[in-house]
Amino acid sequence: MPARTIHMRMQAQGYFTFQTPLVMKILLLGSGGRENALAWKIAQSPLTTQLFIAPGNPGTAALGTNVNLDLSDFDEVAAFAIDEEIQTLVVGPEVPLVEGIADYFAHHSLLKDICVIGPQKAGAQLEGSKDFAKAFMQRHHIPTARYATFTAATLNDARAFLNTLTPPYVLKADGLAAGKGVVIVPTLAEAESELDAMLGGKFGKAGAKVVIEEFMQGTECSVFVITDGRHYALLPEAKDYKRIGEKDTGLNTGGMGSVSPVPFADEAWIERVRTYIIEPTIKGLQAENIPYQGFIFFGLINTVEGPKVIEYNCRMGDPETESVMLRLQTDLVEIFEAIRQGRLNEIQVEFTKEAAACVMLVSGGYPEAYEKNKPITLPNDDNLVVFHAGTREEQGRLLSNGGRVVAVCSRGATPRIALDNALKGATETTFEGAYYRRDIGSDIYPL
Ligand code: AMP
Ligand code: GLY
Repeated sequence: MPARTIHMRMQAQGYFTFQTPLVMKILLLGSGGRENALAWKIAQSPLTTQLFIAPGNPGTAALGTNVNLDLSDFDEVAAFAIDEEIQTLVVGPEVPLVEGIADYFAHHSLLKDICVIGPQKAGAQLEGSKDFAKAFMQRHHIPTARYATFTAATLNDARAFLNTLTPPYVLKADGLAAGKGVVIVPTLAEAESELDAMLGGKFGKAGAKVVIEEFMQGTECSVFVITDGRHYALLPEAKDYKRIGEKDTGLNTGGMGSVSPVPFADEAWIERVRTYIIEPTIKGLQAENIPYQGFIFFGLINTVEGPKVIEYNCRMGDPETESVMLRLQTDLVEIFEAIRQGRLNEIQVEFTKEAAACVMLVSGGYPEAYEKNKPITLPNDDNLVVFHAGTREEQGRLLSNGGRVVAVCSRGATPRIALDNALKGATETTFEGAYYRRDIGSDIYPL
């Protein structure tokens, strides 16, 4: 295989050299703002010779080649990867991981040498089963809310457990429920009726088991690492804004914006997160012989007792990735290559001191019923990076094609400057019915 030598920083001795293939052909799966942000970063790498995004969106089309693959059809993805001699597969969303796309590649004679960024099924359980994640945290003494898991057969025990808790009550469908499986209610009566609904099939099979847990009070923060299973590198942390309404009111959404850094996530706090959360997680996976290669997203809450885990995800967050990629200085493809070689400890992952912010423009009515196919005008401002989330192109016109439509992002010398740039960009982004939150970041970085 043709090869060239690249240099990577080595922790102990300055530099080492290793061989990397001349062509770095990458296939990125997904079609949202997260994937547009990942594609933006991957496309900047001198190591990338070809980037395919499946299915991608008009934003990713400007950075690589979109390919119309069905992500639930692993045979189709595999045939493409073989034909195109793909070397690295980056899996953006959780569903293909939980369904075993990394296992499929690992066990296929023609695909097993492809570096997959994303865990196999066993590791993806951290996100795919809340019961698994909670039991894992308990086994490895990782701080999280007290909990118990129930099924229809243990309904009476579930009611008794609810009685030991104080309001509000947190109930979670065990399996993937498109981000809707967590319900928080203020009264015991509502908790009991929600429990009945969940066990009665409200979320289908995902709710056959229900996790009930203590409510934790505090400010949330998303912390991300990328790991080769033995070593890990920390990425910039971010805060996201899930509710549709300003001041965190109204229905939950996929995420209305993000900002990075987060003020309370200073060195001492991050050190605590490393010691009590990240390292026990990586060691726990190793101890349980669960191979894990890819991103781990720690959904944390900063309580009076310190940081605790709300949830794990086996992928990057959206819209956090949009801010995180803006702050990541190290070449992401170099990181992937270090992972492939199991030498992630030998590179230094760096991010800027500059801040980054992302404001999501959504369709009127979202997260409930909304209209699509509205012509979009994007801002023209060098301070901005606009990632597409739910758009499509028809005869050269850009049209809305989802609830979350575009993520208007910016870097800035301070978080407030980044936020103000992004907010100004949001005012200059127009489509019929467009809505965005004007208060993204203002809880931690006041106006
Ligand atoms: P998830 O869908 O798992 O991200 O949960 C949705 C949101 O519910 C989280 O971002 C938190 O805001 C909230 N949440 C989940 N579990 C708890 C908990 N035990 N205490 C407080 N808030 C929680
Ligand atoms: N921003 C939260 C998520 O991606 O699940």
